[in-house]
This record gives sequence, C-alpha cells and structure tokens, in this order.
Amino acid sequence: MKGVVFVEFLEMVEAQFSPEMADDIIDASDLPSGGAYTSVGTYSHGEMVALVGALSERTGTPAPTLIRAFGEFLFERFHVHHGDFFHGIDDSLDFLERIEDVIHVQVRKLYPNAELPRFEIERPDPDHLRMLYRSDRHMGDLAEGLIRQCIAHFGTPVVIERHDLDDKGGLVRFELSRVQSEMLTFE
Ligand code: HEM
Repeated sequence: MKGVVFVEFLEMVEAQFSPEMADDIIDASDLPSGGAYTSVGTYSHGEMVALVGALSERTGTPAPTLIRAFGEFLFERFHVHHGDFFHGIDDSLDFLERIEDVIHVQVRKLYPNAELPRFEIERPDPDHLRMLYRSDRHMGDLAEGLIRQCIAHFGTPVVIERHDLDDKGGLVRFELSRVQSEMLTFE
C-alpha cells in the first residue's frame, strides 16, 4: 500500500483525535516501517490493519466505521492533490464511472507499484451506476467512504445500496441511484 494512504490516515487521526493518539497507535502497532512513511514509499497493507485496530481499541469505535470515515477524509484529500481528475465533471455518478478506466489508470502512472482494487462498472442509464469492487486487501469499507464523500462533494442526492458478496469486504456491489429532488420530502 502506498505511503500516501498512511500519511493521510495519520493526518486524519491527528486532526480528528490528537497528535498524541497518532504517536500512540504507531508505538502500539509494532510496525516494520517504524511509522515513518513517505508518500511514494510502499508498505505492507498489514500496517494499515494494525493501525486501524489500535485506533479502534483506544476509541471504542469499530474498525469498519473508522475505515469508512477515513474514506470520506481521503476523498477530499484527493480533491486537493489531484484536482485534474475533477476538471469538467460536475456529477458524482460521472466521476465514479471513470474510476477504473480513467482515474486509477492515471494513479498507476503516478504511483507505479500501487495496489489498486478492480471495479467493474455498469451505467445502465444516467441516473444509475453499478460498481462491483474486488480486492485482495478487502477494503470495501474504504470504497464506501470514498463513494459517500464523492456524492456529498458533488451535492446531488444519490442513494447507495451496498451488497457484501463475501464476508470480509473483498467483493462488494454498490448500486447507486440518483434521487430526483422533488422526490425528497423535508419535514
Ligand atoms: C481523485 C480520485 C482518486 C485517486 C487520486 C485515487 C488514488 C488511489 C491511491 C493512490 C490508492 C493507493 C494504492 C496503494 O496503496 O498502493 C488508492 C486505493 C484505493 N482506491 Fe482510489 N483514488 C481515487 C478515487 C477513488 C474512488 C472514488 C474510489 C471508490 C470508488 C477509490 C477506491 C479505492 C480503494 C478502495 C483503494 C484501496 C486499495 C484496495 O481496495 O485494494 N478510489 N486510490
């Protein structure tokens, strides 16, 4: 897993908990890297699992909830650092439709040994998108957080249905449906 993901994770921990919490989970996790990450370095995915586990123990928040929250944070960081991918796009489904064939293809050029998931994408009509996520790193929760923040970012209401097709978050189907604003009721 690329160092950029670890750097952003520790930024989130510092911002949402404290710098001491970030140091504490690094110390507790007995990491081969020692926790000194550089963006372009590559580290074992097991280090992320250990850090999230240590944070979960200390905060009492379940690991999947923490990973989803990290996905939401990470999306906005991608927006800051990779603004190019957003040019000319003003819709969450249009953005997400490009994840496999455009965005992660470019990511692979920027980070040659990135371990990226596979997405099979279907766009049956402009208001619906189906994404089948598949990864040996079982980060379906991270994918969900990224998708949720993408929708929040672009602002048009979209409903997400998540179907776990295995029991470890390595094969997940997301069904996204745009909701017409006149169908939303505010009470
Ligand atoms: C500007 C947009 C994006 C950029 C620059 C980007 C970049 C990256 C990078 C650098 C990694 C780390 C690869 C590694 O650790 O070796 C990654 C992993 C990942 N990306 Fe993206 N990504 C973007 C958008 C998204 C979106 C919208 C989704 C969800 C639909 C997504 C899903 C994932 C997941 C789940 C992983 C974790 C690795 C795995 O599951 O195997 N990414 N991405």
